[in-house]
Amino acid sequence: MKLLEERILADGRVLGENILKVDSFLTHQVDYQLMKAIGQVFATAYAECGITKVVTIEASGICPALYTAEALGVPMIFAKKHKNITMTEGILTADVYSFTKQVTSTVSIAGRLLSAEDKVLIIDDFLANGQAAKGLVDIISQAQASIAGVGIVIEKSFQTGRQVLEDLGVQVTSLARIERFEDGQVVFGPADA
Ligand code: G4P
Repeated sequence: MKLLEERILADGRVLGENILKVDSFLTHQVDYQLMKAIGQVFATAYAECGITKVVTIEASGICPALYTAEALGVPMIFAKKHKNITMTEGILTADVYSFTKQVTSTVSIAGRLLSAEDKVLIIDDFLANGQAAKGLVDIISQAQASIAGVGIVIEKSFQTGRQVLEDLGVQVTSLARIERFEDGQVVFGPADA
């Protein structure tokens, strides 16, 4: 997605070996016009798939997921990283290990929100090692819903995430694919949409 790549080049900052900071438009402050455009591209890519729900994980996946859901005309569900007091029964959970943070967290979705009739599009902001998306695939499978694919805003192709998801038989659609960082600059490979 050309608009997204241009924005990453203009406003993204490479931190250390493998982190891209995009907190001026995606992960902290959010550019809703860009998110809306991103939602349209994902919705177009999955228009013929009969999507009934968009699923993401809090926090930074929520904005692109919501605009995708709006464009598809379906609800958006975000998996929670912390149980709250109203989540009392029928909770589907998965353990997600973060290589970046080196902690395991349990993410959850209320089981009554997903059923075997659902066809789900997973959306997330970053694909690094794929553990967050893998946890969502696990939860959605527990509900016996089917998965049309995973839509990713920014993929770091030099990490293992895509392979992890493709090994599970899940299609990945990334709008920007970072091949490598070179002298503090982003080098893109061909994107999926
Ligand atoms: P994985 O899910 O692909 O395995 O990712 P990993 O454990 O490596 O990453 C943990 C968190 O760091 C995730 O967010 C992920 O989106 C984010 N992340 C990974 N690489 C980058 C990067 O290069 N830049 C930025 N800005 N974030 C990155 P999270 O902990 O779920 O955070 P949030 O969504 O609550 O903000």
